[in-house]
Amino acid sequence: MKDWKTLYEERGVVQKEPSPKARDAVSFFRTTKTGKILDLGCGTGRHAAYLVQNGFEVRGCDSSEAALRIARGVLPQVEFQVCDVGLLPYRDRSVDGIFCHAVIQHGTLATAKKAIGEIHRVLRGGGTLFLTVTSTEHPEYLTGREIEPGTKINIDAIDGDMPHHYFTESEMRDLFGRFVIVRLEHYRAPSEKSPGRVAATWATYATRREE
Ligand SMILES: C[S@@+](CC[C@H](N)C(=O)[O-])C[C@H]1O[C@@H](n2cnc3c(N)ncnc32)[C@H](O)[C@@H]1O
Repeated sequence: MKDWKTLYEERGVVQKEPSPKARDAVSFFRTTKTGKILDLGCGTGRHAAYLVQNGFEVRGCDSSEAALRIARGVLPQVEFQVCDVGLLPYRDRSVDGIFCHAVIQHGTLATAKKAIGEIHRVLRGGGTLFLTVTSTEHPEYLTGREIEPGTKINIDAIDGDMPHHYFTESEMRDLFGRFVIVRLEHYRAPSEKSPGRVAATWATYATRREE
């Protein structure tokens, strides 16, 4: 099966170095004076480690138990929990900041909507969010089988059995309409999962409205 659960079980660490974008996330969390961060969909913990190195108090969660076992081995001081982005194991408004890199695109648009609803529920008023997802400019968007508008199965990709949603700018603005979008950035960079290819990504820097 080509999915993240199997990748971690068979390969262990898949992505070791932090994404270059994590530096921008750190600047955002510093500017907004966010001290405690949840690494949502943390995988084996490369960004949790980077955030710890940068002085943040970190916890992490992911749906893969195999990934979390590795993360706990590297960062015994960090609390890692099994989670589903569509049903987070955290109380309403209990989280200061969320770092979520390349996670909520794994599924249909409904999966992403549910995840964003959960992110909104658990963030405190004024809490901060750094989140990246694939865009419709991504070369992978031109290939594969469309199962609904904007969602594809790309069996060539290493996680190709999982549907991936590719987001447009208007979809991003709509999906994050309940947040204050501080910055919505579209960028192209070498793909982290398919070496030699280029990925097109949205990065959202946002805060939860004080309601
Ligand atoms: C591309 S990897 C990125 C991992 C990590 N954020 C990083 O940048 O190293 C996608 C991650 O999302 C996790 N994931 C996928 N669907 C999930 C879900 N419904 N709930 C929680 N985690 C999920 C996978 O287990 C995997 O760790």
